[in-house]
Amino acid sequence: MTQDELKQKVAQAALKYIKDVPIIGVGTGSTVNHFIDYLADFRGQIEGAVSSSESSTQRLKKLGIPVLDLNAVGPLEVYIDGADEVNPQKHLIKGGGGALTREKIIAAASKTFVCIVDENKCVDILGAFPLPVEVVPMARSYVARELVKLGGQPVWRENYITDNHNEILDVHNLSILEPKKLEAIINNITGVVTVGIFAERPADIVLIGKGTEVVTL
Ligand code: A5P
Repeated sequence: MTQDELKQKVAQAALKYIKDVPIIGVGTGSTVNHFIDYLADFRGQIEGAVSSSESSTQRLKKLGIPVLDLNAVGPLEVYIDGADEVNPQKHLIKGGGGALTREKIIAAASKTFVCIVDENKCVDILGAFPLPVEVVPMARSYVARELVKLGGQPVWRENYITDNHNEILDVHNLSILEPKKLEAIINNITGVVTVGIFAERPADIVLIGKGTEVVTL
């Protein structure tokens, strides 16, 4: 199977977690795009979705799925989203698509976070994928210097503005041995909006497209 076929298969496997769920939290990325396409079959059965990005919002709306404001709907039963890396503790790196802040908000506001990935995303130690950090634009250089002190090599994602009108630093060469600790340290740097480590609120269930199977972690 190609990587995209694995993404499609794992997206389909997530459908069993949305049975009888009226409002679904929806993430961002190519894996979730497959999930959104499947969601079209549930039109009429669901009230709508809370979306983590403008791109997912557009895709949902195009398929006739109402997009709801998180403030108006309260806690969500289920959030479905992809990831850039997953470790055996279900800690994640997210934000390759730049939507990490809204993704983290929806994950925090959801009872169950189902993460859907292909096997290429599974690692023992997070950090081979450059760690995205969303920053307030005027703080970019200051935050970058602080990230260097932590041993990383931040690279400005040039010509990219997040949905929240901020910028992204992608931090290379980090070996993230203590994800919760590093998440707290980076979140504490003034000017950081969100770091793409999801360890304080990890995934609850990880579905992994592996060969012809979907494995549940
Ligand atoms: C979006 O900001 C990311 O967190 C995505 O969830 C992540 O990049 C996974 O994307 P793909 O499904 O495209 O690999």
